[in-house]
Amino acid sequence: MARAKITIVGAGNVGATAAHWAATKELGDVVLVDIIEGVPQGKALDLWEAAPVGLFDCRMIGSNSYEETADSDVVIITAGIARKPGMSRDELLATNTNIVKSVTEECVKASPNAFLIVVSNPLDAMTWVAKQVSGFPKERVMGMAGMLDSARFRSFVALELDVSVEDTFALVMGGHGDTMVPLPRYSTVAGIPITELMTPEQIDRIVDRTRNAGAEIVGFLKTGSAYYSPAACVVEMAEAIIKDKKRITPCAAYLEGEYGIDGVYVGVPIKLGAGGVEEILELDLTDEEQAMLHKSADHVRDLVDQISL
Ligand code: LAC
Repeated sequence: MARAKITIVGAGNVGATAAHWAATKELGDVVLVDIIEGVPQGKALDLWEAAPVGLFDCRMIGSNSYEETADSDVVIITAGIARKPGMSRDELLATNTNIVKSVTEECVKASPNAFLIVVSNPLDAMTWVAKQVSGFPKERVMGMAGMLDSARFRSFVALELDVSVEDTFALVMGGHGDTMVPLPRYSTVAGIPITELMTPEQIDRIVDRTRNAGAEIVGFLKTGSAYYSPAACVVEMAEAIIKDKKRITPCAAYLEGEYGIDGVYVGVPIKLGAGGVEEILELDLTDEEQAMLHKSADHVRDLVDQISL
């Protein structure tokens, strides 16, 4: 069987870290693309020179053009600007729309059968841009955020209860922004709902910290946003597709009536395998949860309405 081929657009912190983790998981050959001359080439070559130490056996290529990306199985789009302290993800809308649009055009020309995973912000709106521009079916265009928001929630549960992260599970739905919808009753430690393990005050604190987790990192870094955790999550998604793992995870998926939402991307639990978004799981949400999800979807729709392609 041929090795999988993964294109990562954007050789900044998220893209380069994703390349690193894709390599250490031996997921496939990686092509790192960026408009900045020399940076993708330098980072890819540096990674490749680490390969002989027994870390991985995949080729790492860096390029400023898209020829090398031809026939990729998975394309990860991280290109765009990141927010600065005090900025919301939404403030990146106009700039990143133009970037994601042109990147998507190039990627689909080179790899008409690829799966697209978008990481650029504002996430749900940028995933919509990629779908519109690519014309790909909804199964093949998705956004990475639910897995990240859920990973953050899990990491905070593990800290709060002093338990292994391995035993934590969490579900965060909704848009990747201030309106995201952490769902404590679907979040567990070894199958035990956290609502049985923590006080409502503890849960509220974790929910708030999860909602603000991206901004917390931006506040520390000042010149950029998080990258280890976003990169880890997007590589996990690529792996689920390449290895047909049929993972159940939240991610930004295109809804057509599920949860009473139509025509936008929003974070929902999906089955992720060789067919991409193979299934959207519809949970029986409470009225309050459903209202929060709708508010979040409305916010995403407001953003999308501001986009002209
Ligand atoms: C974050 C940015 C990457 O959540 O959206 O950290």
